Amino acid sequence: MPAVVIIGAQWGDEGKGKATDLLAEHIDYVVKFNGGNNAGHTVVIGNEKYALHLLPSGILTPGVIPVISNGVVIDLEVLFHEIEALNARGIDTSRLRVSANAHVITSYNVTVDKVSERFLGKRAIGTTGRGIGPTYADKINRVGIRIQDLFDESILRQKVEAALVAKNNLLTKVYNRAAIKVDEVVAELLSYAERIRPMVADTALELYEAIDGGKTVLFEGGQATMLDVDHGTYPFVTSSNSTAGGASTGSGIGPGEFKTVIGIVKAYTTRVGAGPFPTELFDASGEFLRATGFEFGTTTGRPRRCGWYDAPIARYSARINGVTDFVLTKLDVLTGLKEIPVCVAYEVDGKRFDEMPVSQTDFHHAKPVYETYPGWDEDITGCRTFEDLPKNAQDYVLMLERISGARISAIGVGPGRDAIVVRHDMLAGK
Ligand code: GDP
Ligand code: IMO
Ligand code: MG
Repeated sequence: MPAVVIIGAQWGDEGKGKATDLLAEHIDYVVKFNGGNNAGHTVVIGNEKYALHLLPSGILTPGVIPVISNGVVIDLEVLFHEIEALNARGIDTSRLRVSANAHVITSYNVTVDKVSERFLGKRAIGTTGRGIGPTYADKINRVGIRIQDLFDESILRQKVEAALVAKNNLLTKVYNRAAIKVDEVVAELLSYAERIRPMVADTALELYEAIDGGKTVLFEGGQATMLDVDHGTYPFVTSSNSTAGGASTGSGIGPGEFKTVIGIVKAYTTRVGAGPFPTELFDASGEFLRATGFEFGTTTGRPRRCGWYDAPIARYSARINGVTDFVLTKLDVLTGLKEIPVCVAYEVDGKRFDEMPVSQTDFHHAKPVYETYPGWDEDITGCRTFEDLPKNAQDYVLMLERISGARISAIGVGPGRDAIVVRHDMLAGK
């Protein structure tokens, strides 16, 4: 079982960090393959709480080699802050490997992200404002800055100049902002060069050799299926491929290696930022989920929009990613509800859709078709086997398993590292 992928099956914040941490003791490498510091993964170990953004969550497990591969966009200032903060808490980050081909989030990309959101007005995406979209846009437009460019000042200057021609026109003539100075950008980027140099590697080759040598490599996705630039609710998405396919292009490992794809799915649904969300709740139930589940963004602190479980989305994610196992998180948050509605299909203008409608307009108008299941009152945070769960909680899980497109192999019953019920060994082929 050499290459394993973890991806978010909804709109992010499903608990990917916790799932990665759970599996980390059985793996040798953990790879962040997409996104950047728009991600926020919270891992709770005993009384300690860690919020990871750019570093893969596996970094918390001694012995695991953390890798930031080519598909990631890196804000170097944020990276070094995160490394320092972990070092100050006694976490060893010295094994970190960073791809020479990863793109750099420059200060002008952060500026463009914020300014363009403001100018979108009510059509804003609600980005995290971390420069993610503009950095991926530069990559696709072939004016991006890569980590390896930091080691050649003349090349770096030429590339920054090329990137700033169009941007300074945009900033000064359209957005009424001051022009950005090439010298300042180059000086800032060069100031990171010697610090990052020892971490830089041909990560595609190292990962290939690791897999070839029988090591287990875990690819930890940032964001989620419904935020994927191709398969999500475009344009209300992030700018990378956060589905399982992104693990291949984002790391340089051939698609045939990925036999296990673990989808992380919450027992209900949340979303941060704008865009369609059929099961969103605007009443006391939504407030209950937000308060009980502490649904506030790890990165931006924004309150997350909350709604019931959406089975068409789970089935869509199972299909798009080739999910072999689901980890169902936050079941404990539903404790105390008398009844739990679950969306099993949508209705659009009187027509039933059992699967995700292909038209964005239809999805915007989709009304959930609910089935309602009985809840439970017992505290489940101490449950460690499936049989420990109250009958209604067991039935809820089995029902979700039937309608979600893959087996549910683990169930989160609290934020802590050990608050999990494991039903199947997801790494059994190892
Ligand atoms: P990620 O971005 O997918 O890694 O998820 P986040 O860390 O942004 O959000 C998930 C939140 O839920 C974190 O605060 C976790 O500590 C917490 N969490 C994860 N699993 C569980 C669970 O099973 N129960 C509860 N109550 N909290 C959980
Ligand atoms: P993790 O990895 C939830 C959302 C933003 C916005 C959209 C685009 O913690 O699950 P971006 O800054 O990426 O251009 O914003 O995507 N978004 C996330 N929502 N969890 C995340 O990461 C997210 N990363 C981006 O809120 O709607
Ligand atoms: Mg998160």
